[in-house]
Amino acid sequence: MPKAEDAAARIARLRADIAQCDRAYYQLDAPLIPDAEYDALYRELQALEAAHPDLRAPDSPTQRVGAAPLPAFEPVRHRVPMLSIQTETDTSPKGAEAFDHRVRARLGLDAVDPPVVYQAELKFDGLAVSLRYEYGVLTQAATRGDGETGEDVTQNVRTIRGLPLRLLAEQPPAVLEVRGEVLMKRADFERYNARQRAKGQPTLVNPRNGAAGSIRQLDPTVAAQRPLSFYAYGWGEVEGWEDRPTTQHGMLDAFAAFGFPVAAQRVHGPGAQTLMAFHARIARERDELPFDIDGVVYKVDRLALQRDLGFRNREPVWAVAHKYPAQERSTQVLGIDIQVGRTGKLTPVAKLEPVFVGGVTVTNATLHNEDEVRRKDVRIGDRVVVRRAGDVIPEVVAVVPDGRATRADPFDLHARLGGVCPVCGSAIHREPGEVDWRCTGGLYCPAQRKQAVLHFASRRAMDIEGLGEQRVDQLVDGGLVRVLPDIFSLDAARLAALDRMGGKSAAKLVAAIDASRATTLARLIYALGIRHVGEATARDLARHFGSLDALMEAPVGALEAVPDVGPVVAESIRLFFEQTHNREVLAQLRAADVHWREQASVPGQGGTGVLEGRVFVLTGTLPHLGRDDVKARIEAAGGRVTGSVSKKTDFVVAGAEPGSKLARAMELGVTVLDEAALMELLGSVGSQQ
Ligand code: IVH
Repeated sequence: MPKAEDAAARIARLRADIAQCDRAYYQLDAPLIPDAEYDALYRELQALEAAHPDLRAPDSPTQRVGAAPLPAFEPVRHRVPMLSIQTETDTSPKGAEAFDHRVRARLGLDAVDPPVVYQAELKFDGLAVSLRYEYGVLTQAATRGDGETGEDVTQNVRTIRGLPLRLLAEQPPAVLEVRGEVLMKRADFERYNARQRAKGQPTLVNPRNGAAGSIRQLDPTVAAQRPLSFYAYGWGEVEGWEDRPTTQHGMLDAFAAFGFPVAAQRVHGPGAQTLMAFHARIARERDELPFDIDGVVYKVDRLALQRDLGFRNREPVWAVAHKYPAQERSTQVLGIDIQVGRTGKLTPVAKLEPVFVGGVTVTNATLHNEDEVRRKDVRIGDRVVVRRAGDVIPEVVAVVPDGRATRADPFDLHARLGGVCPVCGSAIHREPGEVDWRCTGGLYCPAQRKQAVLHFASRRAMDIEGLGEQRVDQLVDGGLVRVLPDIFSLDAARLAALDRMGGKSAAKLVAAIDASRATTLARLIYALGIRHVGEATARDLARHFGSLDALMEAPVGALEAVPDVGPVVAESIRLFFEQTHNREVLAQLRAADVHWREQASVPGQGGTGVLEGRVFVLTGTLPHLGRDDVKARIEAAGGRVTGSVSKKTDFVVAGAEPGSKLARAMELGVTVLDEAALMELLGSVGSQQ
């Protein structure tokens, strides 16, 4: 353990490094170091703080979570009230002119006077909070409340990882209250909900409720699990900041320099022109923003002018919110179709009476999955609210109750389809704990064929060079490949007739297809694209059963005897081989001379190598062997290659210019091998087999 003064220096270093990593990760979306390294820094800091309790501090990244649940939120009186802003009623870009007129009139400016300089910003759609920093350290966070008194939500706000617990400043102001909005980015919201659905737990209604609800949780561990973000847009009380900015844009630049997230979408410039251009630009960009917005905000840029203009009816005269025409409209559900995705996923889609939403005519809207349809209780004939958010497929938000006496029957996907895929007629299946129904047609289903062909031909499967996405599209669309075995009857003459395919590349492709006929059982099993059967499982199945026939006939019980094959995987394999079409495909592949060496089966064992169960991590460049080659050799000997070094790692194979994984290995005392040592190890395996 280091001496106290060394520990203090190390702790300070770790805190600064972790804060920098958090900023890069949460604000810039550009991680500086791998997760495992971040975790190591974090754990080191935790350990040092545990050993030196006197060096603990509220601005340490370890102190973001950890507080106990509260009985209730304490009230916080805002020393500078948190007021709301007026909304411009005209949603067209011209609304900006009305604001400019009002400002000029209040300032007593004539037409001949120079334009007022404005700042235009996004209007974030979340929950307003005020963050109090004293001498650079976050001391309190409060909600807006009624503007005069809010609630102390410090514990929850501290869990927002993109937020500085300490300002990045040599001489921070004595007091600085930073005001801004807590929100949930759309991708974080979707990810969170997908995880919740997978766990069968309640989902959030929308990002806005997600943010507001999370901040108002009494138990900070709940907020800590919600992926929240913060964006700064103004200040409250400020003390002891000598050369403080004199403009709104200068204020936001200063916030960014202190380490706060500030939206990049902001401009300042003269007159209503600047504002209208911003309004129009954000109308175009809003769908691509990472979060929902509620419009834009215009502010007089010079803070001295803001003071002159002051407030009217508790609203600033110097600022206005300017919204956009609604992106939600109501319409009628004419029918519910079911689409088959590339992986066999069945998605219910509402067919709508055409409606103009957010600039486009919408006729289809996704209903996501059966549970969502049931939750929203959408039925044919209902009036529904449709939302279009960006290039995202329009979605049905909710049913508008219209008091009709009779409605269609509740939606039942299985009954609607009579239990079979609408494209190929194969059985449909929904696994326990999953939300999606899927077509089990696999290779046979045209909707899944392209994806299946691509996977089949991929390097780790049948390894057919030259069968890329465009080529596969061409072959499937042109009817040349209907089922996988068709690949093996392609000839150079027919291929050469395709667009963008000369005689030479046709001959090359035919040669690649030819070469792929000699394969291994493991590759073939993997190439079939059975759900849940990845490369490792395919290898285990090949070793366990030894022959394709044995695998095809295996009942669920026998499948579950294979290491790492549980009930879900076993059921998926059984369903696959139960489909007559899939059996036919395999017979045709054999007839097309696709062959492999059947092995003696090794029941109950995933592998036989001496490296069985050993975990390897690769780093740096080896003198002779490529990464894939090394990986294949280790796996052939029964070992496993993973991405990051942990206590479970047995060996790190290091070459030239190794990454931080080598340092981590040394730290954990993991055995490090160079290429020669690895070959020796593999050689010894070979001689024992
Ligand atoms: S400035 C005194 N700027 O809008 C005016 N507010 O009605 C201070 N909001 O609840 C507000 N984005 O949370 C300002 N760029 C922005 C904003 C913004 C969102 C919210 C704010 C408040 C409401 C004002």
